[in-house]
Amino acid sequence: MIAFQDQLFTLETDHTSYLFRVTAFGHLEHIYYGERVPDGEIETLLTKHVIMQGSSVQYDAQKDDTYCLDNLPLEWSGIGSGDYRQTPIEVKLADGTYRTDFVYESYEILTGCVPMETLPSAYDESNQTQTLIVTMIDRAGGLKLLLHYTVFSATDVITRRAVLINTGEASVSIRRIMSMQLDMENEGFSLVTFDGAWIKETHRHDRTLKYGQYVNSSVTGASSNRHNPGFLLYADGATQSHGRVYGFNLVYSGNHFGLAELSPFDLVRVQLGINPHCFDWTLESGGHFETPEAIMTFSTDGFNGMSAHFHDFVNQHIVRGDWKGKERPVLINNWEACFFRFTRSKLLRLARQARRLGVELFVLDDGWFGKRNDDHAGLGDYEVNRKKLPRGMKSFAEEIRALGMLFGIWFEPEMVNPDSDLFRAHPEFAVTTPGRTPLLGRNQLVLDLCNPAVRDYIVSNVSNILDDAKIDYVKWDMNRHISDAYSPMLANQGEFYHRYMMGLYDVFSRIFRQRPQILLESCSSGGNRFDLGMLCFSPQVWSSDDTDAIERLKIQEGLSYLYPLSTMGAHVSASPNQQTLRQTSISTRFNVASFGCLGYELDLKHLTMLERKEVREQIAYYKQYRRTLQYGRFLRHDTSKKNKVYWQTVSLDQSKSIAGVYQPLAQAAEGNDILPLSQLGENKQYRMQTKGQRVFIRRFGGLINHLLPFTINPNGALFRWADRLYAMNDCIETYTASGKTLMQGVHLNNQFIGTGYNGNVRMLGDFGSNLYAIEQLPDSNE
Ligand code: GLA
Repeated sequence: MIAFQDQLFTLETDHTSYLFRVTAFGHLEHIYYGERVPDGEIETLLTKHVIMQGSSVQYDAQKDDTYCLDNLPLEWSGIGSGDYRQTPIEVKLADGTYRTDFVYESYEILTGCVPMETLPSAYDESNQTQTLIVTMIDRAGGLKLLLHYTVFSATDVITRRAVLINTGEASVSIRRIMSMQLDMENEGFSLVTFDGAWIKETHRHDRTLKYGQYVNSSVTGASSNRHNPGFLLYADGATQSHGRVYGFNLVYSGNHFGLAELSPFDLVRVQLGINPHCFDWTLESGGHFETPEAIMTFSTDGFNGMSAHFHDFVNQHIVRGDWKGKERPVLINNWEACFFRFTRSKLLRLARQARRLGVELFVLDDGWFGKRNDDHAGLGDYEVNRKKLPRGMKSFAEEIRALGMLFGIWFEPEMVNPDSDLFRAHPEFAVTTPGRTPLLGRNQLVLDLCNPAVRDYIVSNVSNILDDAKIDYVKWDMNRHISDAYSPMLANQGEFYHRYMMGLYDVFSRIFRQRPQILLESCSSGGNRFDLGMLCFSPQVWSSDDTDAIERLKIQEGLSYLYPLSTMGAHVSASPNQQTLRQTSISTRFNVASFGCLGYELDLKHLTMLERKEVREQIAYYKQYRRTLQYGRFLRHDTSKKNKVYWQTVSLDQSKSIAGVYQPLAQAAEGNDILPLSQLGENKQYRMQTKGQRVFIRRFGGLINHLLPFTINPNGALFRWADRLYAMNDCIETYTASGKTLMQGVHLNNQFIGTGYNGNVRMLGDFGSNLYAIEQLPDSNE
C-alpha cells in the first residue's frame, strides 16, 4: 500500500493512487492524486518545468536554472525560497526571521495508525492501515517536521497531519501550521463549501476556481455553522453519479482554515488545518506541536462516490464506543414540546404517549437544573430543579425506565450564566479579557476550558449525574460563539483557541471513554459544531435547530456530502414549524427525518387520533428499515426537475432500499415523474411499494365538496371534526422488476393536478413527499 523506491513515494488505496517524490534539492514534489494507476509510470504524470517562468526566483541558479518552487506542485512549502503561494507554515524563529525551507531527511512506514497525544484522530481496529512518516528538516531554523500519511485502503481515504519539533536551543513561535497541503493541476475545478448560519446550516455552495485564493474558515471558536470544515473540488462536468470529485475534511472542532488557491501557473493549492487567526504557539526547545488530522478522498463516481468513501470512513474509523455500527433508538425530546415549562407529570405524560407510539428513548432537554426557567440563569449549576422534578433525577430516570424506555438528558457544560451559583462563587472560571466588558451570547459566558480546575468541575458534576441516574444518552450542547478569548492560565494568549479545544477533548475523554455505553449526541445550537472531531466522541450530532422538513432537505443533503446518515439527528416536530411557520404534513416531516437518526420533538397530545396512528405506523416502518436508513449507502439523485429532491439509501447487501421523493413546490399541470434509483443488484428481483400514508382532508379545503354527496363549510367546525376522524389514503404503487430495470427509472403515477381524484393519484402539492421501499424477493440472487 505504501512504497518508497527511487525517491518516489507510492500510496495506494483500493481505487486511488497518491504519488510524490523527493526532488534533487530535497523538496517533496507532488505528482499525482487520482484513479489508481500502474506502478512506475510517472513521466506522463509529472508537471513539466523545462523553462524558467518570467519574474520567478530560482532556487539554485547554478545547479538547475529551471528549478523554481513557485511552479512546482509541492507536498509542503515554506517562506522565502521562491514559492509565492500560500505557505503552510509560518514560524518566527529564535533569531526573529521567518524563512523556512524544509527538505527531506528520512522516512518510515508503520503498520496501523499513530494515535495523537492531544487530539482525537481516526483509528483502525484491524490494523490494516499503514502510516508513512516523512521527516523533513530545516537545519538553519532548528526545526524538524514530520509529515504523516495514513492510508485507509478499503475506504479510499488518506489522512494527513504534521508534527513540528523544535530541535534548536531557543523557543520559536508558530504562527501558522497546516495539517496538509496538496498541489494539483487545475481541471477546471469548482469548489463546494457547506455554509450557513443558525437554522440554515450546511447549504451547498459552488464556485468555479479563478486565479487567487478562496478561504473556507471559521473564527468563532468552533468549527461553526458558517462554514463546515469539509469541502470538495470537482472537475468540470461532475454530477452526483459521474465525474472526478475530491473531498477534504478535518478531525477538529475549533477554528479551521481551508484553502483553494489557483496560481498563475494553473496549479491548485489545497490546504487545511488550524485557523491562523489569533494563533501563536510557543514551541519550547525540544518541544513538539501536532496539528489536527486532515482527511482526503477521491472518486471518479461523482459526488455520491466521494461521499460513500467518507461515509464508510466515518462509520468505521471515526465513530467509536458501544454505539459504533449499532442501530440508534427512536427518541422523543421534550424541547420543542415544552421549552422550559414542564413538570414531572407533564414529562411523564409525554413519555407515556411516546412509548405507546413505539418511541424507545426519552430525552429531557434544557431546564432541569438550577434556576433555569428561561435562558437567563442556571448554566454552570447542576442541582436538579426540585420544583420541576421534586423527587430528583434518579427517581425520574427510574420512572422513565419503568415505562420501558431509555433515558437521556441535556447538558451545556461549557457555559455559565452570570446568574448562577457557579459564577457567583467562581467568576474567574468564565472567559473574559482583562479591562474589557465581556460579551454575552444567549445571556451566557464561555467557561475557560484552558483552566484545569474548570475541567475538573465539569467532569465531576456531569459524571456524578450520569452515574447516579444511570443515564443512557447525553445531548451535549454549546450555544454561543467564543468572544473575549483570554485565559489567565496561559502565558501566550495566541494559544487560547487551540488549548480550549484540547481542554474540551480532555473533558470528553474523561467523561465518556470510561462510559462507552452512553449514546452521546453533540449539539451546538444545532449544527454549529458538526465535525469529525465531535464524531470521535459523539456518534451522532443534532443537525440543526431547524426542524422544518423542507429546510431540512437542504441541511441534511448538505451534511450528507461529508457525513453518513448514522450521524445526523433528525426530528419530526410540530406544524406550523417553529422556525419557519411553514405547514407540512406529518408524513413529509417523517419522510425527511427518517433519513437519519429519527426522533420526535413535539407535544404529542396536540396530535389528532389519526395523526397519532400515523406516527405509530411511521415508527414501525422506521424500525423495519432502520439499518438501511441509518447505515445504508446514501445517494442523492440528479434531476432535471427543479422542484424535486430524490434521495435513496441502499442496504450494503443491496437487498433493501428506501427512496424518498420530495416536492418542495408544486407546479401546475406537472408532467410525469420518474423516480431515479441506483446501486441495486442488476439481476436481483425486487418488489417496490409506496409507504402508505394518510392524506388529511384539511389539505383540500372546499375541494372536498366535490367528493361528498352534500356540502360542508371548509372553515367550519364540522370540517375540522371530520378531519380528526377521517383521512384519505395516499396512492400506493407496487411494482416487481429486476434491479436493472428499476435502475432505468420508475415511471410513477400522475400527481394531483386538479382534474380529478382517485386512489391512483399521487397527492403531493407543495411540500409533498413519498417514501418507497424496494425489497429483494426471496430466492432472487444474482
Ligand atoms: C439549543 C439546542 C436545542 C435545545 C436548546 C435548549 O438551541 O440546539 O436543541 O437543546 O438549546 O436550550
